Amino acid sequence: MKPLRIALTKGRLEKDTIGLLEQAGYDCTAVREKGRRLILPIGNGEIEVVLAKAADVITYVENGVCDLGVVGKDTIMENGRSFYEILDLGFGKCRFALAGKEGTDFYSGYNEKTIATKYPNVTRFFFEGKGMDIRIIKIEGSVELAPLLGLSDAIVDIVETGSTLKENGLVIIEDNVAPISARLIANTASLKLRKNEIEELANKMEAEKNKAIVKS
Ligand code: PRP
Repeated sequence: MKPLRIALTKGRLEKDTIGLLEQAGYDCTAVREKGRRLILPIGNGEIEVVLAKAADVITYVENGVCDLGVVGKDTIMENGRSFYEILDLGFGKCRFALAGKEGTDFYSGYNEKTIATKYPNVTRFFFEGKGMDIRIIKIEGSVELAPLLGLSDAIVDIVETGSTLKENGLVIIEDNVAPISARLIANTASLKLRKNEIEELANKMEAEKNKAIVKS
C-alpha cells in the first residue's frame, strides 16, 4: 500500500505538527534531519510528509496528490475551495484584524478607504458584511508597511502577539474578523478510499491535542 501523504505548511505549523505526531508515537527523525529534502517518511514509512507553502498545501490536497494537509484557517478562508476540514489542531492560534495608524479615525469621512492585505478575499468579505466599498491593494508580506508609507488607510492581517503592530505604531481597529488556528484537511476522495487510515491518524492527533489542552 502506498504511504498516506500529508502536506505540511513549512515553518511554525510544520514544527508544531511534527511535535504532535511525535507525541502520538510516530518516528519523525527523517523530518528533524531533513536538510533540503521536501518529501520525507515518518513512522514506519506508512506516512509521507510533504513540505509546502500554505496555499500550495491546499492545491496538493484538492488535486488529490496529497491525502491530508495541515494549514492555517487564514489560508483556508482566503483560498479554500473543495476539501474536508476534519480537525482543529489547536495550535497556530491567531486572529484576523483590521489595523491602522495610531491616532487616525478609520471610519471618519466619506472617501473610499484603501486596505492593504495579503488576504484580499477575506478583506472583501469582511467589508461586504459592513456594506462598505473599499479599494484593496495586495501586499505579499510585512503588510504593516503600507499604512506607514501612506499606501493604505489600514490593513487586514493576522495578529498573534500584537507586537508587530505595536512596534510600528499601528493599533487594532477591529479584531473580530475571525479566529484562526491550524486545521487538518483531507482530500474528498481520500477520505472515502482511505477512511480507516485517515481516521486512525486524525484520532491520534486529536487525542494528543486534548492532552496538551488539559496540561496547559
Ligand atoms: C505575520 C503577520 C504579522 C505578524 C503578526 O507575519 O503578517 O506581520 O506575523 O504577529 P505578531 O502579532 O505576533 O507580531 P509573518 O511573520 O508571517 O511574516 P510576513 O508578514 O512577512 O508574511
